[in-house]
Amino acid sequence: MLLETRYAYDETKEFYLAKEVVSFFEDMIENAKEDGVDLWVVSAYRSFETQTDLKSAYTVTYGSGANAFSADQGYSEHQLGTTIDFTTKDLGGGLSGFQNTPAYTWLTEKAHKYGFTLSYPPNNAYYIFEPWHWRFVGTELARDLHDDDKYFYDLDQRTLDEYLISIFD
Ligand code: DAL
Ligand code: ZN
Repeated sequence: MLLETRYAYDETKEFYLAKEVVSFFEDMIENAKEDGVDLWVVSAYRSFETQTDLKSAYTVTYGSGANAFSADQGYSEHQLGTTIDFTTKDLGGGLSGFQNTPAYTWLTEKAHKYGFTLSYPPNNAYYIFEPWHWRFVGTELARDLHDDDKYFYDLDQRTLDEYLISIFD
C-alpha cells in the first residue's frame, strides 16, 4: 500500500508497506510528531529487482564489504513490506548518526507499542548496527521483545511463528 507522501523525507519518492502495517506505522509517526520527534521514511518495501540493483551498486563500491550492511536479493527484510529505514531533518536524509538522534531514543522506548522492533542491534550476528532499520512484527511480539530486552533474531523460528501467524495469515 502506498504511503502518504508527507511521510517521505523526499516527497518525490513513493514508499510502500504491507497493508497490515500501514495503520500502525501512521499511528507511530503521528504520536512521535506529537512528542516533538522528527521521523521520516527513506526506505520501505523493496522489490526483488530493487534489492538486486541496490546490492549490485553497493558491491561495485564496497566489494564484499557490502555484505556487512546490505542483504542479498531474496534475503532483505525490506522485501517483506514490513520494514522501514528512518532519517531525521538533522541528518539530512542520511542514516549514519541515527543512533544519536532523539528519534532513535524515542523509537527504542516507544516503537514496540506500535508493533515495531529494531532488527540489527549493536553486535548482532548478521549486519552492522542499523539503528535506522525497524521492522513490524505485531504489538505482542514487539512488546515481549522490548520487555525481555531481546531482539527478533534472538528467538527461535517456532517461537516467532506462534506470534507472527496471527498477523499475516
Ligand atoms: N540493510 C539491510 C540489512 C538490508 O539490506 O535489508
Ligand atoms: Zn533497512
